[in-house]
Amino acid sequence: MHTILELRVNGDRTETGVPTHYTLLETLRYVLGLTGSKQGCDKGDCGACTVLLDGDAVLSCILPVHEAVGREVCTVEGLADGPHPHALQDAFDLTGGAQCGFCTPGILCSAYGLLARNDDPTRREIAEALSGNLCRCTGYTKIFEAVEVAAESIRTGKTPEDVVSARRQTRGDGG
Ligand code: FES
Ligand code: FES
Repeated sequence: MHTILELRVNGDRTETGVPTHYTLLETLRYVLGLTGSKQGCDKGDCGACTVLLDGDAVLSCILPVHEAVGREVCTVEGLADGPHPHALQDAFDLTGGAQCGFCTPGILCSAYGLLARNDDPTRREIAEALSGNLCRCTGYTKIFEAVEVAAESIRTGKTPEDVVSARRQTRGDGG
C-alpha cells in the first residue's frame, strides 16, 4: 500500500507515492534516487544512514518516513553550495578523512549538524557528535582533524587548503 507524502529534501518540495512501511532512508534511496545516504546495518547501529532533520542528525534507517513530513530533510547531496563543496567536504578530501567512503556521508551530516551549533568544537565534542558513526578504515584521527579544519575555515573565512597548509607548517611537516 502506498501513500502520497509531501517531503522537503535538500530545499526541494516533492509530492510522491511512498510504500506506507518505508523508512526515510528507503524513501531517499529507492523512491527519490538519493543514494548518498548509505544502508549499512539498517537497524540504528552504524550511522551510515545519518541525515539532518530540521538541522539535527538522525538515523534515517529507523525513522518512519511519515515522521519527516513537514520537516526539512538534508542529505549529503544537499551539503554543497551548488557546484562548491562544503568546507567539510574539502577538509575530508585534504586530510584523508575519507578512505573507502562508506561511512563518509553519515559522518559529514553529523559533523555538519555539530558545526551549525558550535563552530569551535573541542576534539572531545567532535568525538561525542560522531560517536554514533562507525568507521572501519580511518581510525578516526583524520576524521577529527577534518572537522577541526572545516570549523576553522568556517570561523575564519580561510579556505580549507590554507588551514591545512598552516597546520602542516606549524607541525613542521611541510606541504
Ligand atoms: S544503516 Fe542506519 S544506523 Fe546503520
Ligand atoms: S572510510 Fe571506510 S568505513 Fe569509514
